[in-house]
Amino acid sequence: MALRLAVVGATGLVGRTMIRVLEERHFAFDELRLFASARSASQHITAFGRDFVVEELNDHSFDHVDLALFSAGGTTSLRYAPVAAAAGCVVVDNSSAWRMHSAVPLVVPEVNADALSAHHGIIANPNCSTIQMVVALKAIHDAFGLRRVVVSTYQSPSGAGQKGVDQLTAEVHDRVPTQRISVHPVAYNTVFHSINSQFAASEEEIKMKQETRRILSLPQLPIAVTCVRVPVLGGHGESLTIECERNLSAQAVYDILARTPGIVMLDDPAHGIYPTTQVAKDHDEVFVGRIREDDSISNGIQLWVVADNLRKGAATNAVQIAERLVADGYLSFETFAFS
Ligand code: A2P
Repeated sequence: MALRLAVVGATGLVGRTMIRVLEERHFAFDELRLFASARSASQHITAFGRDFVVEELNDHSFDHVDLALFSAGGTTSLRYAPVAAAAGCVVVDNSSAWRMHSAVPLVVPEVNADALSAHHGIIANPNCSTIQMVVALKAIHDAFGLRRVVVSTYQSPSGAGQKGVDQLTAEVHDRVPTQRISVHPVAYNTVFHSINSQFAASEEEIKMKQETRRILSLPQLPIAVTCVRVPVLGGHGESLTIECERNLSAQAVYDILARTPGIVMLDDPAHGIYPTTQVAKDHDEVFVGRIREDDSISNGIQLWVVADNLRKGAATNAVQIAERLVADGYLSFETFAFS
């Protein structure tokens, strides 16, 4: 079947990474269209050895498109993903707009690719911090049964898109940022994501809890989350403390994770070998190290998980979903009234 592909938000940080990942993975298509806002219409982007002209997104953009990767923010996704699905185009959406909708599968291919079979034209890419964590959690759950998870994140401001990168680089160079993601400086600082006072938690912390439970099909999983932005340009780190149902050892957890597709082990801290955000940069895998037993609880294990948030945390995961949709023949679907 001829495949007509689109990237929505093609000029953004994740959109540009999506194009690069599609190129690197030799994603096969017959036509590619690149969409963004009116601000970028007519901009030229070189990809796949060709020149593409960015088009302004509108209600007819999906009339001749089979598969669209969206990373243009929640408002654009809420408005245009149903338009695309109604036109018969499958959307893989990187925003948080549709992640908890019961008719929208929330997918990390290494964890729950089976959920794709039930889609109705919109598939959600999870939050960047959630994706890298669940790849490790799923393997540990299958082997030892999860009882409780405690996670603290160390996240790059690039998770907020170009704005986050702009604020950090301006501040590092002693310039006043033209756009900002935090009222506080992000350079030489540690700040929180916006806090939802109703839940006494940040939106990011709420997403990590809800999405993790949904992806793992563990709706009651006890999980405590603290999300922090740290001044690194790319890459998220996560400290995980996991309490399991069954007996474990650090070696047994190492062996399970070392066999898990999508995970790279870097765990020889005595020789300086452990995951850092710089090591993970431009890689598609989730890096795991510092595995050690937690003697403050029974069946407890601690680990450090790092990934490139623009890649496995966003673009790569979306492209992997697209690859599965094509390979498994899931581009045709039963329609659903999303709006
Ligand atoms: P544009 O560059 O024209 O503003 P980032 O997350 O790095 O900020 O990128 C956001 C992406 O979403 C950009 O490609 C941006 O396009 C795109 N975008 C933002 N608003 C819209 C919109 N209303 N319609 C289409 N694309 C949009």
